[in-house]
Amino acid sequence: MTTLTKESGAGVPADSGAFLSVRDLYVRFKTEDGVVKAVDGLSFDLERGKTLGIVGESGSGKSVTNLTVLGLHNPMFTTIEGEIVLDGQELITARESELEKVRGNKAAMIFQDPLTALSPYYTVGRQIAEPFMKHTG
Ligand SMILES: Nc1ncnc2c1ncn2[C@@H]1O[C@H](COP(=O)(O)OP(=O)(O)O)[C@@H](O)[C@H]1O
Ligand SMILES: [Mg+2]
Repeated sequence: MTTLTKESGAGVPADSGAFLSVRDLYVRFKTEDGVVKAVDGLSFDLERGKTLGIVGESGSGKSVTNLTVLGLHNPMFTTIEGEIVLDGQELITARESELEKVRGNKAAMIFQDPLTALSPYYTVGRQIAEPFMKHTG
């Protein structure tokens, strides 16, 4: 897996430190066939005002890494070690109620398959508005 950074947009404060810092991240899943080592000692920084691209072959751990940042793995089957600091807040040890304030606010994910990510029962507009309603009232 490779990480690439790029300046993105003007008017963003520079040199304000990493917005997202991942250090020595290990993610393992317990499965019926044994333990899957999905992420094995990954570190990277996403600086404020920059864009970070994470590139790697299929199965190299890109999705698992980002799901870990958002705290979206089932804790029953997942072992996570390392450090994930988002805007000064440690996320691996954060409570679910704290993660709920982060998701859709400081961090969000656009899932790979929109046909399964969007619910057919609600309009697209309602689904786009939901995080704003939740976080800003
Ligand atoms: N919930 C899970 N349980 C067991 N193994 C998983 C789970 N999610 C992902 N994996 C495995 O972790 C590895 C990394 O997957 P993934 O992050 O989806 O790769 P990609 O870089 O293609 O996004 C793969 O071997 C995948 O099969
Ligand atoms: Mg993926």
